[in-house]
Amino acid sequence: MMRTELAVISTANIIENENYQSILQLPVKNTLELFQSFGILLFRGFKVNHTEMKDFAQQFSSRFVLDKDRPIIDSSNKFVTLVDPGMHYVSPHSENANSPFRPDLVWFCCAVPASQGGETLFWDGVQVWQNLSEELRQLFISRKIRFLQKFPVTDWKRFLGTGATIADVKRTLNNIEGLNYQINSDQSVSIEYCCSAVVKTKYGNHNAFANSLIAEYKNPRGTVTFEDGSPIPVIVINQINEVINRLTGVIPWQTGDLVMIDNSRFLHGRRSFADTRRRIFALLSYLK
Ligand SMILES: [Fe+2]
Repeated sequence: MMRTELAVISTANIIENENYQSILQLPVKNTLELFQSFGILLFRGFKVNHTEMKDFAQQFSSRFVLDKDRPIIDSSNKFVTLVDPGMHYVSPHSENANSPFRPDLVWFCCAVPASQGGETLFWDGVQVWQNLSEELRQLFISRKIRFLQKFPVTDWKRFLGTGATIADVKRTLNNIEGLNYQINSDQSVSIEYCCSAVVKTKYGNHNAFANSLIAEYKNPRGTVTFEDGSPIPVIVINQINEVINRLTGVIPWQTGDLVMIDNSRFLHGRRSFADTRRRIFALLSYLK
């Protein structure tokens, strides 16, 4: 049977395997109900590999999407990738929330944990929102934020397919709310995306502070401002960080662990590490 542990802040909600041969035997309906209420689940003891991760994810997903800059791990499983390259700390973000192409679900599975560090971190955006001051909540209700990004040809071909053309880019980007784009002379594409920092969760329609603001603020290549281009004050960022630092959840990886994250509600990140053997695979999808 399934057993869950309600979240204490330092652990994910855990479904431990007690008598199944494979994660594919877990009842989908029950799992979905748990996922809808918790928004993050850690499956432990099922010895999940990257192929099973995709097969399991398939049961909840209408389609998979490829992230623009992560290496694919094998050609027969072309949506399964390694996680963000490097070994550095990754600050809180919802996946691709700086663009209109935000997936519903983020999946991670662990082939090799780092001997030290490298834990995936997570934050419940509903809790973050509830813990922000009234002043900050008013600020982000009344003002949208704006992300600027530039995609070289190789990036958008990776996202749209190697045979994609500028016409495909236009077809994909036309008529999206909050999006302006420009095709540059070298065929790179610049986008400007305006959205609210507070989003409605897929399940329950709750307000969640689930976005890419903090990560993009720290990213030297990223540009995030208010919608009119004015800077987001450091004091605002510091206040958000104060709340976020109090609400950090930690996934101490074991080999074969699988994590399923509601990207409309949760932010994730990771601790830095030094162990080059660490192998965590990622998969992004839309709900059925
Ligand atoms: Fe991520």
